[in-house]
Formats: sequence, structure tokens, C-alpha cells
Amino acid sequence: MKYSKYSTIIIGSGIAGLYSALKIQQQVNLPDGLLLITKSKLGESNSRYAQGGMVAVMKDNKSDSTASHISDTIKAGAGLSEFNTVKFISENSDAVVKDLLKFGVQFDRDENNNLCYTKEAAHSVRRILHSGGDATGRMIEQALCKKVHENSNIEIYEQTSAVELLVSNGQCKGVVVFDNETGEYETIYSSAIILATGGIGQLYKYTTNPVGATGDGIALAYRAGAVMQDMEFVQFHPTALAIDTDENRFLISEAVRGEGAKLCDADGVEFMSKYDERKELAPRDIVTRANFNEMQKNNTNNVYLNATCIDSKKLSLRFPNISKKCLENGIDISKDFIPVAPAAHYFMGGVKTNLEGQTSINGLYAIGEVASTGLHGGNRLASNSLLECVVCAYSVANYLKTIELKTPKQIDEEIKSRIDEYNNEDLILEEFDVSELKSQLQNIMWDYVGILRDERKLTAALEKIDILQTKFARNSKCLNIQEYEFKNMLSVAKLIAYCALSRKESRGAHYREDFPQTNDECIHSIITKEEGVPEFVK
Ligand code: FAD
Ligand code: SIN
Repeated sequence: MKYSKYSTIIIGSGIAGLYSALKIQQQVNLPDGLLLITKSKLGESNSRYAQGGMVAVMKDNKSDSTASHISDTIKAGAGLSEFNTVKFISENSDAVVKDLLKFGVQFDRDENNNLCYTKEAAHSVRRILHSGGDATGRMIEQALCKKVHENSNIEIYEQTSAVELLVSNGQCKGVVVFDNETGEYETIYSSAIILATGGIGQLYKYTTNPVGATGDGIALAYRAGAVMQDMEFVQFHPTALAIDTDENRFLISEAVRGEGAKLCDADGVEFMSKYDERKELAPRDIVTRANFNEMQKNNTNNVYLNATCIDSKKLSLRFPNISKKCLENGIDISKDFIPVAPAAHYFMGGVKTNLEGQTSINGLYAIGEVASTGLHGGNRLASNSLLECVVCAYSVANYLKTIELKTPKQIDEEIKSRIDEYNNEDLILEEFDVSELKSQLQNIMWDYVGILRDERKLTAALEKIDILQTKFARNSKCLNIQEYEFKNMLSVAKLIAYCALSRKESRGAHYREDFPQTNDECIHSIITKEEGVPEFVK
């Protein structure tokens, strides 16, 4: 096995990973250099597909204020958002947006060169910046990728998966990585390892997330002993295009509803007023359950989004990619209703961190969707995720410049024994049809740990996941990237189901049909490998 060392390693090249690489390289003393690893091509990530936009509470936007953004975020978060986190992220948004502009990110502007803002569900004002109409993620990601490529001080490993974090005496000292193409392993030592590995959408049969969203960072951190928070909180987006073409479902952005589109049945009868007075712009969990309920009641696979009430020129200018994708599927959104259905979209739970991205393990940091900072609570407010990615990337860089990054030299027995498992050439591993096992797991999660949950379904899910885990007998070493991903998916699925079973109330995106009430006491769920059972804490 090859060995190397870096002052800092960033795992993941979505917006959190790319932006943190640029900020750390700009500000931090890195005697052993900076490495960015990513399991696909640089920039391939959930970030790339973000459509609606990024929240920006800009000081010169007189119709907005941090107080208003904080209030909207906390209301949507169903009582579980942490005030200090929300305040910190909101107050830093002006600075990070200005910094992104310096890095060449272009947000859409009006004819007077002012930034354009849109509105999405549960925002009380227009405060969401967008780029390329409905291609915000791709535009930000491309600008940051360009800067990363131009920066010769950032070393990049593509097609390389982190497979194990090396922890001893409470300190994360390195990571074992797997080259997806050659099958070789490398151990990389570092005193600062940053997880920016994104979300978990691929655990579900229907998801807006691309194929790489398999919860790797969460599984790695859990196995390494880190504290996980609010693992039961999976956000389902109400309007994914209800046509299966790829491994995921194409998103019809909430911004389309923000611009006036209505949800309806096949006859055009609108139904949202039955569910919430804010109708189409109610918080995401409410709209998702409304769509799901209408589908169940009418025994249909989708409801419809009617965007024909929006001026057709505006539609094609503001939503060029959505218009194009729908047209490829025979739907002219200026004339036809769009078939839509809920799909797993975002993970509010994850590796518990503070505002500097520190996890419970020294030397291990987490930023972006993999982390649970307490911003989103039980239900993320639209477009707060990209903002969280950049503010937390900015913040971890600010923290790292205050400490001395000394790469570990002494490798102890505990770490050596972990590495030896990957060096073991004699290990004979049985081959599995991983894509079949994966689809079984995705069905279990959708049917039993989905939008509407109860004890019977969650208990059944745990039993079924256990059967899959017993069948797919892998300890450390796996045969290929698909196996590593599936191993991680099983671990995360079990944690989600277990925490969902333990939370005996409904809150935000976690809805229990057997416990429909929201408890007065608002508590986070916490789980670690050592304890093995979820604990509920304030
Ligand atoms: P990601 O962008 O997912 O990046 C994760 C990276 O980690 C990838 O490069 C991946 O390859 C890499 N990786 C994963 N595991 C490993 C491993 N084991 N080893 C090495 N590398 C690994 N949010 C908003 O705020 N506004 C929006 O408009 C919006 N629209 C969205 C639309 C869609 C279709 C989707 C799917 C999400 C949307 N979101 C939106 C959510 C938002 O895009 C994500 O939460 C955010 O981009 C996550 O960024 P990230 O950098 O944390 O992770
Ligand atoms: C969307 O465009 O609807 C997604 C926005 C988000 O997930 O924040």
C-alpha cells in the first residue's frame, strides 16, 4: 500500500468541498499541502443539480433582514433548529456571497445589473439568488471547479473513495482511500480531515439525488465513533418529475411554485387550500404529505403541477432546463400539466458539528449536507443548504488558520491493524449482485421508512435491513466502489430507521401515523456506535 501525508484532506467535491479547498488554501499554513479527493469526477455531486437557488440575506436588500430569515428558518424547522446556528449562518451570508462573486460566481441580474431574487416555500420575502435561471448549483460548481483547477497548490485525486477513517486515542489521524479504477489502496495521514461527502438520497427508491449520494461520510464517521444527530429527518421534495429515466428523478424546482404554479389533479382541480392556508408555498413537509395523500386517495402515481398560468416567455427564460427536460419527455410546460410526485431530497441529520465544522472526534470536521449543524431542524427551508455549505466551508477555514496543523508521525498499533486488513491479499470475497441488493434496500426505505411512518413499518424495516446486512457479509475490505457504497447505505439506513422508531412524535419531515402529535419538549436524537441506541437530548 502507498502512504502519503497532507496538512489537510478534504473528502468530496461538491460546493462545500470545493469552496473549503479554496478558502483553506488562501488562508491556512499548510506545510504538508492540501489534498482534495472525490469519488467521481471533480464537481460531480448533489451540488451540481441544485436548481432553485441560494439564500442570501444581503445588507443592501432593504426588503429583507437577518431577523426575518432567522424567523422563517426556525418556523420551517419545526422547533428543532438551533437559534445560534441559524443566526451565525444568516449573518455570514452577505460576506460569503460577496466572496463567491470574487471567485467568479455569476448570479442572475436584472437590466440594471441588480441581483435578482426569487421566492420559495415558507420564505416571507424574495431572498433567493439564482444563476443560469434554474442551474444555480451547476453555475456555482463550475466557477469553483475552475478556480480549484487553476490553483496548483490544491492536489486533486479523482475517482478515489474514502473507505475508512483512521482514529486512535480520540484523534482522527488519517484515511484509507480506494482507487475506483485500479483497485489500489493508499493510506493518507493528516491532522485535519474534512468530510464534505453530501447526502443520502440514493437510499430511497425515488430520489432527486444523483447516484453518488450514498451517505458514505456519515457511515465512515459513525464507524469511527463520531456522534450522529437527528438521523430520522429525511426531507422529501414534493415535486420531482414523475417519470423514471435515470437512477434518480429530475427535480421540478420549488421556484416554479414560487413564480405562481399550482398543484392540481388530472382534471386541474387544485387541492392545496385543503391542507394549508399558504397553499403551494407551505413548508416542504406539508406540501409533500399533501401530494402523497392525494396520490394515495386517488390511487395514482402522481399529482400535477400547472405552470401554464405563468407567462410562457418568463417560463422559458427563468426555467430553461426544466422546460427542456420536460419537453424531452413530451411535456410543454407552457401548455401541459407536469406530472409530479414526492422524492427523497435532502438529509437534515448527519454528523453532529459545531459552527467551526468540528465533530466529536479531534481532527475530524464535517461541512455541508453530511453535517448536522442544527440549522435545518426538522425541515429545511428551501435554498438554505447551499448557504450552509458555503458559510461552514468559510468557517472551517477560519478555524484552521488559528491552529497548528502537525501531520501525525507515529503510527500506533491500532491504526496499523486497521490498515493491515486492506493489505490482506489472501482474503477471498464472495461476489454479490450489488445492484439487486441496492434496489431491495431502496424499496424497503421507500415503503417502510418513507413519508408516513409507524412502529409496524419501522420494525419491519429494521428486520429487513438486518437480513440484507447478514447476507452482504463485509467487514472492512470490499471488492469495488459499488460494494463500499452499499455497505455505507446499509449502515445509514439502519440508523435512520432506528432513530425514526425511537422518536415517538411527528415533527417536520418525520411523520408518525401512530404518534401524529408534536411533543412540547423539543429534543435532538443523538446516536453513537459506542452507545448503540438513540438518546434524546436538549
Ligand atoms: P455534494 O454536493 O453532494 O458533494 C458531495 C461530494 O462528495 C461529491 O463530490 C461526491 O462524489 C463526494 N463523495 C461522497 N462520498 C465520497 C467518498 N466516500 N469518497 C470520496 N468522495 C466522496 N439546495 C439549495 O440550497 N438550493 C437549491 O436550489 C437546491 N436544489 C437542489 C436540487 C437537487 C436536484 C438536489 C439533489 C439538491 C438540491 N439542493 C439545493 C440541496 C443541495 O444541492 C445540497 O444539499 C448541497 O449541494 C450539498 O453539497 P455538499 O457539498 O455538502 O455535497
Ligand atoms: C428546489 O429548487 O426546489 C430545491 C431547493 C432546495 O432544495 O433548497
